[in-house]
Amino acid sequence: MQPNDVHAAWLPPEAFRAIGSRRTLVCGEGTLVDTVRAEVARACARYGGSVDRPPPRPASADRPAAGASYDLVLALVPAALLPVAAAAVDVGYRRRHGSGALGEEGFLLARHAEVTVVLAEAPAGLLYGLFHLVRLGESAFGLTRPTELHRPATRLRMLDHWDNVDVHPVMGQVERGYAGRSIFWRDGARRADLTRVGPYGRLLAACGVNAIAVNNVNVHATEARLLTDRLGDVAAIADLLRPYGVRVHLSVSFAAPVTLGGLPTADPLDDGVRAWWAEATRQVYETIPDFGGYLVKADSEGQPGPFGYGRSHADGANVLADALAPFGGVVRWRAFVYNHRQDWRDRSTDRARAAYDHFTPLDGRFRDNVILQVKHGPIDFQPREPVSPVLAAMPDTRLAVEFQVTQEYTGQQRHVCYLAPWWSEVLGYAPWGDDGPTVADVAAGGGLVGVSNVGDDPFWTGHPLAQANLYAFGRLAWDPRLDPVAVLDEWIGLTFAGSAPDASGIVRRTLHGIMDDSWRTYERYTAPLGVGFMVRPGDHYGPDVDGYEYSPWGTYHFADRDGVGVDRTRASGTGFTGQYPQPWRDVYESVERCPDELLLFFHHVPYGHRLHSGSTVIQHIYDTHFAGVEQVTAMRRRWEQLAGVVDAGLHARVRERLDEQVRCAEEWRDQVNAYFFRKSGVPDARGRRIP
Ligand code: GCU
Repeated sequence: MQPNDVHAAWLPPEAFRAIGSRRTLVCGEGTLVDTVRAEVARACARYGGSVDRPPPRPASADRPAAGASYDLVLALVPAALLPVAAAAVDVGYRRRHGSGALGEEGFLLARHAEVTVVLAEAPAGLLYGLFHLVRLGESAFGLTRPTELHRPATRLRMLDHWDNVDVHPVMGQVERGYAGRSIFWRDGARRADLTRVGPYGRLLAACGVNAIAVNNVNVHATEARLLTDRLGDVAAIADLLRPYGVRVHLSVSFAAPVTLGGLPTADPLDDGVRAWWAEATRQVYETIPDFGGYLVKADSEGQPGPFGYGRSHADGANVLADALAPFGGVVRWRAFVYNHRQDWRDRSTDRARAAYDHFTPLDGRFRDNVILQVKHGPIDFQPREPVSPVLAAMPDTRLAVEFQVTQEYTGQQRHVCYLAPWWSEVLGYAPWGDDGPTVADVAAGGGLVGVSNVGDDPFWTGHPLAQANLYAFGRLAWDPRLDPVAVLDEWIGLTFAGSAPDASGIVRRTLHGIMDDSWRTYERYTAPLGVGFMVRPGDHYGPDVDGYEYSPWGTYHFADRDGVGVDRTRASGTGFTGQYPQPWRDVYESVERCPDELLLFFHHVPYGHRLHSGSTVIQHIYDTHFAGVEQVTAMRRRWEQLAGVVDAGLHARVRERLDEQVRCAEEWRDQVNAYFFRKSGVPDARGRRIP
């Protein structure tokens, strides 16, 4: 199944040991049930267990179906024929919940009369139940287990691939891709060899992801044609993902009626345009009946959109939504709309405000099958940003939250940076105060979307440890309340299941030591206190403190000899704090109450300003940059403990990347510290060398 030279990620054969050594019955029909059966059969072939189908005839009253002879029953219910243990669990479930509580994707897990039972009401639920058993390993077969009902927090748990069909002259085959080339496309065409796609779908199903978009949000000429004459390529990918319950979406160009259809306009209120989208969409569903929907980046960074026709983004999104509605598809419309040709001299324009200013007036005007996809922060996936206020301002619109799993601004998969602790903070953020709903609650109606970090690299993600971000994204999309450290622990247990049994302790300890806090470490040695964008323009790797300072991109820090930070207050700045509801609008407005880690995002303060931590801003900059490098050096030291313990190829790859991370962290430290020392003239209180 796995192409030989490809790392098994979190599904090595050893992760199936507990299941593969049992006697299992799988009841139910359908593609995904067949997948479950095949998974169990493969595990059994390796570990000596067995897998059966239910007997052909219903059991008679005095001879219950093959109950007691199974260790594990995975069953779609209602079913005419269930072994006794499963039937008892089913009766208990129905008494408690009635039927339908498991939904399209949920499952029930119970242990009864020494049988482990997984019940689902739809095939996808059975597949997710199987992978849950894989995570549990032997503990799924312990003496007792509480009955658990698992359902995903949101229907749409998806990854957007920023993959190009043509190699883009600047962005390459995968925009912001750090893991080789695309697993779908190569040099202008679909890859002849799609062998990575099936195993990819399997990995996604095993962490809870159920949809992907196969092409970049920046839709260039060739990619646009995936909607029409190149649709067969999309169908081929969909065929390979279907057995794992992963549906395919397409990024489309708003200008498609003109560029592909030859119409004189793409005006969303034009009847010809509406008819064109309806017909194109009909053909999509004729070719791919379970197609998921469209993703649109409109009027953003040069992409065409409804503004070109004097129409609103609701008009634009709704024309696509109407075309998709008869087939149950959704249009995801991105809220990432801002002026990327700003004049840096103009301090009244604030990019952070843009999404809210554009979209909140449209609340309630989008069709039910439009999902507004909002980047989690107001700017652009920086290592630290506040939560986007759009997420608290559109109660009558379905909202999805977008995370960046690909590490564009967080070390580009050359640095270890486990992002789940941050995503978890964002998902748990309560915009209306502690007693109110969280971002995860808001997103439940729209979904969770991650920008994929996968490519054709043998480790899938370039940096082997970046696999944990992909895994954790899926797990948090399924259940945003999961503890990110516990999720990491799951990932370690699965991924390194093949290491020697006595090595498991050291592998876990070492990886937690390296990864648990790695996002905060990254934050320490890069841009301080939420100010963001001190990266090299273009490729966004490594430090360049003033790289964007005099650019049109709207990402400035305003450092001068006296202080640093962006005044986004209502009192004296851009007024961005006013986009938040209480209590945050006042918390962020107040220089005293604003959390330290976001201080420079919201305020311009003198270098001597004292933080809640007790340190001054300038001393904080020095201290965190020295500390960050020390922590990376310690990571590299720790990793050496796993030499000879984990796979040699994986060990070597991580070691090489840690060398680069140390080098780059030192560069960040020295540039940032030198920059602020030269601006401020304030020496380091601890007398360390600043170049
Ligand atoms: C960032 C990224 C771009 C991408 C854009 C987007 O700005 O650098 O490559 O196209 O986000 O999210 O659309």
